[in-house]
Amino acid sequence: MCSSRAGRFPSPPVFPLLLLVLISLPVSLSRHPWSTPPGGGGAPHLTDSKKYEGSSEFVHLRYHMGPVLTGNVTVHVIWYGRWLPRQKHILRSFIRSISAPSTAPAGEPSVAGWWGTVRLYTDQTGSNVTRTVRLGREKSDRRYSLGRRLSRMSVQSIIKGAISARTRPLPINPRGGMYLVLTSDDVTMEDFCGQVCGFHYFTFPSIVGYTMPYAWVGNSATQCPGVCAYPFAVPYFVGNPPKIPETPPNGDVGVDGMVSIIGHELAEVASNPLINAWYAGGDPCFPQEIADLCEGIYGTGGGGSYTGQMLVDKRSGAAYNVNGVEGRKFLVQWIWNPVVSYCSGPNALDQ
Ligand SMILES: *[C@@H]1O[C@H](CO)[C@@H](O)[C@H](O)[C@H]1NC(C)=O
Ligand SMILES: *[C@@H]1O[C@H](CO)[C@@H](O)[C@H](O)[C@H]1NC(C)=O
Repeated sequence: MCSSRAGRFPSPPVFPLLLLVLISLPVSLSRHPWSTPPGGGGAPHLTDSKKYEGSSEFVHLRYHMGPVLTGNVTVHVIWYGRWLPRQKHILRSFIRSISAPSTAPAGEPSVAGWWGTVRLYTDQTGSNVTRTVRLGREKSDRRYSLGRRLSRMSVQSIIKGAISARTRPLPINPRGGMYLVLTSDDVTMEDFCGQVCGFHYFTFPSIVGYTMPYAWVGNSATQCPGVCAYPFAVPYFVGNPPKIPETPPNGDVGVDGMVSIIGHELAEVASNPLINAWYAGGDPCFPQEIADLCEGIYGTGGGGSYTGQMLVDKRSGAAYNVNGVEGRKFLVQWIWNPVVSYCSGPNALDQ
């Protein structure tokens, strides 16, 4: 039953899944869309059988007739725990970049271009996922209202607290509103690091009073950056010789790592807000959604333990693949493209 696992929509084994591959080659390979890992840590050899990132005869992404977010989306953020102003700036900029009209002078590839793949998903009426994702209101929960050890279900209580706060409660707009709960690096979450880096689901009327999509993403900096902020941190056992972590484009390993997980969750909320729209696999309790299919892929040739070809910031040497507002750069994972049936992103070299 799904209900016993409510809230588990892990998207994310982001890295966990990949780690499994690394640890237990070749047993778990068949579970992966990218079942042909390139050898070593260098650039992969593109063969005919691995021409397109994530492509696989095993992926059967289907539309299950539920709604997708076709109207303007407003993301209301809850900052749970202790957040530095500069950390908030990075994440706000990323969300604002999704629908930014132009990111000049940096230009393409852009975060808005990356969202273009998400827009390829449609509902029963043929309407596409919205172009407009706005940063809504924000609420801080500095006093850890539910403590520092959270369960998945407690995220809904955090949301309930934020919409029913006596001062400046977050708005409730069931049409187009969603909540994004971000926890600081000193907060633990059930299954964090092992199975999930983030998840999304929808609120229950019995707890929150409404049915609205939400997502949770944690800052993994002190708990498992090698899992949830890869490739800005690398587990000690990966690579021989050990792989060197990439430099994060905004100078914050945990927060730069969160950017990609937030992108992952927002893409899935938009295409599968009530867990009955776009996913692959027969079990709605364990769907493979449009970002799950492309975890760990950030550029051309990505798959296995190889991130794919990223861009390098000439000034800082940081790895990134998209430009955003305010001259910021971000690294965000690719998304499954339903038109061509492989993962794609705006920094592709061969598409
Ligand atoms: C809407 O989705 C269809 C089907 O994937 C696609 O062909 C079309 O280009 C999309 N429109 C936009 C504006 O992305
Ligand atoms: C949706 O957002 C667009 C800007 O992208 C705006 O022009 C439009 O008025 C908005 N629609 C609604 C219903 O808020």
